[in-house]
Amino acid sequence: MKIKVLNNKNSCLIAITSILVLGMLGCKPSTEREAVLNQPVWHQPVPGIWKASIGNPQDITLLKAAEATPNTGAIEQLSKPEFPLDKAKISAEVVDGKTYLRFPLQKGEELFGLGLNFKTHNQRGRILNLHMDHYGSSDNGRSHAPVPFYVSTEGYGVLIDAAKYIQVYAGTGVRVNADEPPVLRDRNTDGTWEAQPYSDAVEILVPADGTDFYVFGGDSMLEVVQRYNLFNGGGTLPPKWGLGFTQRVPTLFTAKDIEKEVADFESHDFPLDFIGVEPGWHTMAYPCTFEWEKTRFPDPEGFVQGLLDKGIRANLWINPYVSPIGSLYPKIKPHSGSHTVWNGIVPDLTLDAAKNLMKDHFLENHIDIGVSGYKIDEVDGFDQWLWPDVATFPSGTTAEEMRQVYGTLVQKMTADWYREKNQRTYGLVRAANTGTNSLPYVIYDDYYSHEDFITALINSSFIGVLWTPEVRASGSAEEWLRRMQSVCFSPMAMLNAWADGTKPWSFPEVEKEVREVARLRMQLLPYIYTAFAKYQQEGIPPFRAMQLVDGFSFKSEKVEGKLDGTANPYAGATIREVKYQYMMGENILVAPMFTGEKTRQVILPAGKWYDFYTGDFVGEEEVVTIAPGLERIPLFVRDGGIVPMIEARNRMPKAGEILALEVRHYGEKVGTSKLYDDDGTTFDNEKGNFSWAILKVEEVDGKLQGSMTVDRTDFFGYGQNATWKFMTKQ
Ligand code: GAL
Repeated sequence: MKIKVLNNKNSCLIAITSILVLGMLGCKPSTEREAVLNQPVWHQPVPGIWKASIGNPQDITLLKAAEATPNTGAIEQLSKPEFPLDKAKISAEVVDGKTYLRFPLQKGEELFGLGLNFKTHNQRGRILNLHMDHYGSSDNGRSHAPVPFYVSTEGYGVLIDAAKYIQVYAGTGVRVNADEPPVLRDRNTDGTWEAQPYSDAVEILVPADGTDFYVFGGDSMLEVVQRYNLFNGGGTLPPKWGLGFTQRVPTLFTAKDIEKEVADFESHDFPLDFIGVEPGWHTMAYPCTFEWEKTRFPDPEGFVQGLLDKGIRANLWINPYVSPIGSLYPKIKPHSGSHTVWNGIVPDLTLDAAKNLMKDHFLENHIDIGVSGYKIDEVDGFDQWLWPDVATFPSGTTAEEMRQVYGTLVQKMTADWYREKNQRTYGLVRAANTGTNSLPYVIYDDYYSHEDFITALINSSFIGVLWTPEVRASGSAEEWLRRMQSVCFSPMAMLNAWADGTKPWSFPEVEKEVREVARLRMQLLPYIYTAFAKYQQEGIPPFRAMQLVDGFSFKSEKVEGKLDGTANPYAGATIREVKYQYMMGENILVAPMFTGEKTRQVILPAGKWYDFYTGDFVGEEEVVTIAPGLERIPLFVRDGGIVPMIEARNRMPKAGEILALEVRHYGEKVGTSKLYDDDGTTFDNEKGNFSWAILKVEEVDGKLQGSMTVDRTDFFGYGQNATWKFMTKQ
């Protein structure tokens, strides 16, 4: 369908190329037309997902750049919802080359998503300009993942598939002819007057003469998110080593320095699965040559192999801007944009020619000698550093579009190289967008608020991306330990010492506790890996917000502002949200602590909850105050929760290794849980080479008893028997 509507109040100048829609568009004044017309035509490509298009199709969109293939088989396993919104209240039109979209809102409805926000969860009542950028301390839409998707507490989601700087008024604008107008109040006399009156719609401005947009249904918010994730190909399943501990070494470290670092990890008996090599390994960085600097790394292959021999992978820091002193430059120049970044050229990665040149260079210099992955830096912002919006690219992709998808393009390109080698990778990136769910990258940034890092971790679960609250430095042993505890309960357990040279044992007074939490993460491998397998196969985020948990009914609270001529002349309200607690996998609720906190509140969803460490009952659908001490991160397990674990170790298991399994059970309930396994490193799992075991707890003669059934043993690394541990005294 193509519609072109030129707005002209009385003469009704409408150009339209779809006969179907002609009948819907009458010759009426604009405001009246708004209320009843311009309804999109929806079709349902897969159950529970509806697509509509308006105006001219765009050559590059977020989904086109990511080239994600929907997992329709898995989507078909979900419920079969009806269209979740009142179609008559959705409108779309193109005016003066821009697309205007409107979706209805209900009273009390909350909206989550709309980018990787760091301070807020509920986006209702906020205005966001979704623009790829580093995070600049404000939730204004400029973000490392400006994903134009929101999920509502009413059980639906909306996605705008445009690689543009999209402006979202998430329930702020009030139309003259609103369906649910706000109450008229007089500020002179009415104490309940509101600076931001009630709005009944999300309104979106896409700076393009057309776009595709989608509505996702589901029987819960979680199912909406699952459907969105599966539509984007499902989540990524990291190699097992990617879930181990990673240390990023200081810039200008040499091969010898890194060998010493590895030896230090050994002498401190600390887990280490991969090393991040920061700037200093290229002959030039900012821009990059992607060629080894031979005084620091005289034998790159020997260096990488030496690490591999110790069971440690190498991950290389890059930015994608090509330095004039490297051999790639003259070849790739004809396929690059009009502007430079730090004097490097910007390859047009929508072009196969550019991608192929990158591939040859990267394979020869890194991947073929055993490098296991990349940290893709600087693909997000700042405006002053990256190409300006007036830049041009040989493919005709505009600078704005390129900005929105460049991180996606580098992720996809590099991930494809590893896929061709049938080798999984897991790395870091500073820019992601819609469609990158199945790409093996975790977002990080230079910002450093521990609290806001946890908010971002929670928000990542609404928009199909992964985030790590990386640790760099700390002002005290307490902060160090608290940050280390959080990062071990995130998608990537990482210490990024590129600037500070910190080590896990930098604060000797808490070295033991830091080691313990890193080891606990290793022990939880079977549980975490299963959570990721569910992300891949069922679209369930491995780390997720409480709003995506069954039985969690708490909502954010509006706190009315007090009129104060100096500080708050419009008496604006603030929103108090449920923050800083999330689920890891199906059963574990994580409640991180921050520096200075001796106690904290935790909101326990419906059902009984137990302490992970002791198995003791903690509470049931209530707010509890805990005083956990410094040594441990508070973790809670739901009633009947089953947590499979292995012994503490310093490296993740290799393919074919058989490990002893300890299965913990919490609470009183009987039930089953699934445990996933495969070879841990290849894509053979996509050909069906994986196993699911059923872990079952039942009551026999008044006592709880556990059993394990494995569907096929050839891809199962935990033997046939498990040791069961019933954590709660019956
Ligand atoms: C920054 C990045 C850091 C580190 C540094 C190296 O852009 O966010 O994590 O890699 O570059 O110069």
